[in-house]
Order: sequence, then structure tokens, then C-alpha cells
Amino acid sequence: MVLAGFPGYVARATVTALDKAEALRRRKGGRPIAALTAYDYPTARLLDEAGVDVLLVGDSLGMVVLGLPDTTQVTLADMLHHIAAVARAKPRALIVGDLPIHTYDTPAQALATARSLVAAGAEAVKLEGGVQQAEKVRAIIAAGIPVVGHLGMLPQSVVEEGGYRKTGKTPEQAAAILADAGALVAAGACAIVLESVLAATARDITRRIAVPTIGIGSGEATCDGEVAVVTDLCGSFPWFVPPFARPEADVAAVIRAATLKYVARVTSR
Ligand code: KIV
Repeated sequence: MVLAGFPGYVARATVTALDKAEALRRRKGGRPIAALTAYDYPTARLLDEAGVDVLLVGDSLGMVVLGLPDTTQVTLADMLHHIAAVARAKPRALIVGDLPIHTYDTPAQALATARSLVAAGAEAVKLEGGVQQAEKVRAIIAAGIPVVGHLGMLPQSVVEEGGYRKTGKTPEQAAAILADAGALVAAGACAIVLESVLAATARDITRRIAVPTIGIGSGEATCDGEVAVVTDLCGSFPWFVPPFARPEADVAAVIRAATLKYVARVTSR
């Protein structure tokens, strides 16, 4: 054991959530940000040990872990449970937790929800929407909690939108996303996720705003970083794979093969 005051002891500076969020903000235009979703302790540890920058406890949890049709039924209790599991991994990566639908309808509610996510272990929170969310973003940031924005296709609005559609395709849509991004930056967001935005629009917004953009389904190398749903990357949710996903493994096949071997071993006694 190496102790403080003894030769060879190197004090580890405490890195706060604000430090981590500031480090993320400074990645603008620099080394691309690699973000992945995580919903549990072992996955969070594995991803962190592999060097991911951001662990997003996304409300995609509802679809790829809880078996719900979309993110609109994810509750605050669901989010707190999974954020706490990820936080137990004590990752070096920034833990970002999604504010679930209808838990940030007013600035006061947004702040209360953000505080509960932080109490569970989140180091930053993410919310969907732009201009209309600016006051909520300001309230959360004023309380010392970093905020990541989310623009483009907004999964919590999938029912009203009638499906998952690419956006930023017309000049009007592109201008609206840019205005939303500007409002989030002015409110103090440290990064903005751009989901399913036309590649040229994502590239243009990335050039024009002062904080990193983190793309998903928004083209190759158009943003300051990428975020992927971990089950899309690892191939562990084979029943629905978005067209933009680039799986790097087939974990579903590994689980099926191991289970077949197990069933054969146990039943052949
Ligand atoms: O919930 C989630 O996983 C997300 C990503 C799609 C960015 O918000």
C-alpha cells in the first residue's frame, strides 16, 4: 500500500463533474468525442476501461433494456435506478443522465429532476429541445449542474412526430435547428447531441456553434464527436437495428451460442 507522505505517493487530484464537463466543452474542434450509452455497472466499467469519453444513461433504456416501444414511458424512477448502477462503476468518463419525458415541463421541475439525477450519480444531464428549453437549461446550470442539449430528431416527441424521421433537410428546418443550438449555447450547454440531422446541416451547425456537437445518425465525421447506443454497437439488440448503426460485434450470437451449449450440457446429464 502506498500512503500520502511516503515516497512514491502521487496525489490524485479530485476531478469534479464541472471539470469533466469543461474538458468536454474544450474538445470543440479537437480530438473527436467518443460517447456511448450505458445502463448498468458492468457495461459502464467495460466502456470506461476501453476509453470512452462520455457514458450516457439515455432514456433509450426504455427500448433496449426495458422492452418498451419508445422512450415515452420511461420514468424518473427507471432513470435513477440505472444512473446509480452506472455511477457505482466510478468511471473516469463523464456520466450524463437523460431527463425523462414530462419531468422537465417547467424550470422548477427541470431543476428538481436534474438534482435527483445528480443525487443518483449523474455528473451532467441531457434534455431534448432548444429555444423552448433555454430557461430550464439556465436554471439547471445556475445550480452547478452541467447540461448537454439534444436537437434534431427528438425521441420523446416520436408519438407527435408520427415516427423517427431525419430532419434538417429543408433550409427552414436547418435554420430552426441552428436557432435552437444558439439558444442552448447562450444558456450555457456544454455540448449538443444532433440526432438524425442531414449530414450537411450537422456539419454546418458544427462549424457555427461554440460547443461540441455529438452526432448520431447525422453523417460521418460531421460533428465534434459521435454517440451510439451500446446495444447497436455491440449487436446485442438484434430485433431492431437503426439504419445508421455500425455494429462492431455480434453479442446476440455469442449469448445464443453460450446458452445453446449450457442447455445441451445441463439437459444431457
Ligand atoms: O437515449 C439515448 O440513448 C439518446 C441517444 C440516442 C443520444 O439520447
